[in-house]
Amino acid sequence: MQCSSSVKRADSVTVDLILSNAKAYLRKQIVDCNIAIDQGRIFKIGKKTTMPNASTTINLEGNLVLPGLIDAHVHLRDEGKAYKETFYTGTAAAAAGGFTTILDMPNNAPVTMSAETLRNRMKTAETEALVNVAFYSEFPQNMQEIPRIVKEGAVAFKLFMTEQVGGLNIDDDNVILEAFKTLSRLEVPVAVHAEDKQTSRKAETELKNADRNDVEAFLEAHSESVELRAIEHLLDIDRKADAQLHFCHVSTENGLKAIVYGKKQKMPVTCETTPHNLFLTADDLRKIGMLAVTMPPVREKRHVTALWNGIKNGLIDIIASDHAPHTLEEKKPRSVWDAKVGIPGLETTLPLLLTEANQGRLSIADIVRLMAEKPAEIFKLKDKGCIEEKKAADLTIVGLGIKHKIDASRFKSKAKYSPFDGKQVQGKPVKTFVNGQLIMDDGEIVAKAGSGKLIRRE
Ligand code: DOR
Ligand code: ZN
Ligand code: ZN
Repeated sequence: MQCSSSVKRADSVTVDLILSNAKAYLRKQIVDCNIAIDQGRIFKIGKKTTMPNASTTINLEGNLVLPGLIDAHVHLRDEGKAYKETFYTGTAAAAAGGFTTILDMPNNAPVTMSAETLRNRMKTAETEALVNVAFYSEFPQNMQEIPRIVKEGAVAFKLFMTEQVGGLNIDDDNVILEAFKTLSRLEVPVAVHAEDKQTSRKAETELKNADRNDVEAFLEAHSESVELRAIEHLLDIDRKADAQLHFCHVSTENGLKAIVYGKKQKMPVTCETTPHNLFLTADDLRKIGMLAVTMPPVREKRHVTALWNGIKNGLIDIIASDHAPHTLEEKKPRSVWDAKVGIPGLETTLPLLLTEANQGRLSIADIVRLMAEKPAEIFKLKDKGCIEEKKAADLTIVGLGIKHKIDASRFKSKAKYSPFDGKQVQGKPVKTFVNGQLIMDDGEIVAKAGSGKLIRRE
């Protein structure tokens, strides 16, 4: 079908760019159209005959055009952890993977947990980033710093419940409540890593005493109840605070059930899951070993099925990669307790999901909802999430039919390994436009460092 032409006559102006021969996802339909872009924004969407003049035209050759995808959970590292990833390599991986905006996690060196650490981090990112970057902050010890961090531009806060990362004492429910109340008042979301510290520590100590140090032991230390306890605990606190609460990387059937129960009670909660939790099982972890160790871990089939059901029925709000790069050496110690946990996911997430779309398990509408519309809504990224006139020209161009093998050695990320290495997939991001600028073309980065924009909460 053809998209309707805008009423505004545009034939007297010259715009920066026209994308011709597009099949764009517009208002829940895939539409043959052309997209005119000017000064980083979508100027007009319509038939060829209604397009203004343009300095440049790029023929998209009938490829699918999606709203620029948003990865709401990325560990970009840099600063004291630049040996694992930098803003440049991490955002290059994002652009190569079809993401135009990513949200940066705060467990860095130094930890992002004050206006000053956030400002310094933004300064480093500004000259390096290739895609749009928004920032999480951890909680400071002094609650009065929270509004200053928000003023500096953090779009959300992050709370790790497995160990204390920021300044907030995670063993004190009263301070968590106070922090959540503050965010509720400021209308800023809080994302949580829900694993109960006491439960996992106790199990870990017992396993270590029994000389258990393999991936099986890791699975036992991060049992299903470790996740469920933390989720129920945080939901209880939030019943009194009413903060917008986002559960990161949900991995278990009962964890999801508890969140859904909160949703049914009209609590302001949302949740995410990851590609590794959707595409890998505990058996895969046993086969692959340390490289696939992540927190929370990948789970038995029953959980994977529950997560897929949550995706299909819309109870899981978003998919995020939880891109967590480490060096290969850090991933391969003798004991699992010494392994750095996390999987690089920016360059595998979209091909894995497109493969499912090709096989009919997901629709393109699902992918757009999970990775563009919903993350934009949850993290209040106005300007993002859909293809519409006047919105930012962030676009992900996809070759839906392209069959290829995941090749981790070619990742732009510094972490050149993946539990999905060698996997046959169908569907590939072929171009990434950020604010109207072509950043990735056919797998290569074609823009300068610093071409991406920093997103500050307004
Ligand atoms: O697997 C993980 N990796 N889980 C986390 O919570 C942290 C992350 C990281 O920063 O490496
Ligand atoms: Zn986490
Ligand atoms: Zn994470």
